Amino acid sequence: MTAPAAPLFLPCAAGVEALLTDEVKRLLPRARARAERGGVSLAGGIEEVMRLNLGSRLAQRVLVEVAEGAYVREDHLYELARRVDWTLWITPRQTLRVDTTAQRSPLRSLNFAALRIKDAVCDALRDATGERPNVDTRHPDLQLVLHLGPERATLYVDSSGEPLFKRGWRHDKGDAPLKETLAAAMLAAAGWRGSPETGGALHDPCCGSGTIAIEAAQIACGIAPGLRRRFAFERLVPFAPADVQSLWRQIKLDAEAGVHASAVPIHASDVSFRMVDFARRNAERAGVAQAIVFNGGDALERPAPALPPDLPGTLMLNPPYGERLEVLGKSGRVAPRPSAEDRSTPPDFFARLAAHWKRAYTAHPPGWTAWVLSPDMKLPSHMRLKEARRIPMWNGPIECRLFRFDLVAGSMRA
Ligand SMILES: C[S@@+](CC[C@H](N)C(=O)[O-])C[C@H]1O[C@@H](n2cnc3c(N)ncnc32)[C@H](O)[C@@H]1O
Repeated sequence: MTAPAAPLFLPCAAGVEALLTDEVKRLLPRARARAERGGVSLAGGIEEVMRLNLGSRLAQRVLVEVAEGAYVREDHLYELARRVDWTLWITPRQTLRVDTTAQRSPLRSLNFAALRIKDAVCDALRDATGERPNVDTRHPDLQLVLHLGPERATLYVDSSGEPLFKRGWRHDKGDAPLKETLAAAMLAAAGWRGSPETGGALHDPCCGSGTIAIEAAQIACGIAPGLRRRFAFERLVPFAPADVQSLWRQIKLDAEAGVHASAVPIHASDVSFRMVDFARRNAERAGVAQAIVFNGGDALERPAPALPPDLPGTLMLNPPYGERLEVLGKSGRVAPRPSAEDRSTPPDFFARLAAHWKRAYTAHPPGWTAWVLSPDMKLPSHMRLKEARRIPMWNGPIECRLFRFDLVAGSMRA
């Protein structure tokens, strides 16, 4: 992980690759980041690994490639893993786990493939030190990811550990919370960056546990997403040298010193007071309670937040899907079980929401732009609004669209 730089791969949700490439270039201006299917690749050492883990809102993990090669049988995987000097990663007193992903692999058992990798690591460490490390499937020190393609295998060290969407602030979940990485992708796709020029004020009127507003507030306040959690690399050998540890302390101190007040108002509300309470507690742990105005209230009735005269506003939400809308993804997939509030969503909810927006959100001259994430491809016709954009996104296995509606007086379709 130290010099020379190793190949790094940052997996992300499908459709987010270009946004993640931009984010990586912002975090590491000198990096040559390349969008690939399902993620972004670049080269980097321990410093890049630390900065990406701390700063990426869109990546699922930061993987360090340690071996790559052709394979036909499990023995070839063993040989591939034996080529790595594992003493550079863990000591035999530490533990490991191997996870496998596969695309058109000829192998019958992915468990057996993972076992061969584990054997190679243990044998290599025993030969080098006389001791074998143990497997720990729950809290391993070294997490390996083996990716098997049809002919080639790639072995990665997972430098993140817990996936990066776990920012360390969510204790209160609610029923159908968005993943933090998806909320961040919605904001990035909308170009919302927490300034008057990049989307202006933000309001999530169906905020649930507060994911969108909390991600937005952290962006607006310059709070790095990883500041409140630990990472797997902190337990690995490349992190042990004193100069690496002091660099990590400095990177975190710099990140903390860059935190500032939000330049734009951020509002979050929900019809369920229980959810507003969850969201507020999550925001406190995320360090952004002061930056968000929380309210209870029905999205069909709440007046638009009052904004300074020239400030535009962004509405961003993933609304309740409701009973009637439960199976509506283009691919016919079933949405997650709706919450109690969702189940009582009236069938004309979206038409009434649009009517309310026309009344309450078009009086403000700079205008509001609404971004709605939904698995319902016909959402604009339910709302009787013409969308300005529709961006494909995946909410876990559910294919969705992020619809953009421009709420400017006179411009909305009747
Ligand atoms: C799919 S969840 C949103 C999840 C949220 N983005 C999160 O990450 O936790 C939909 C939310 O809409 C809320 N809701 C349902 N009907 C509403 C209404 N009429 N007005 C405001 N909120 C409503 C529900 O209470 C629920 O929290």
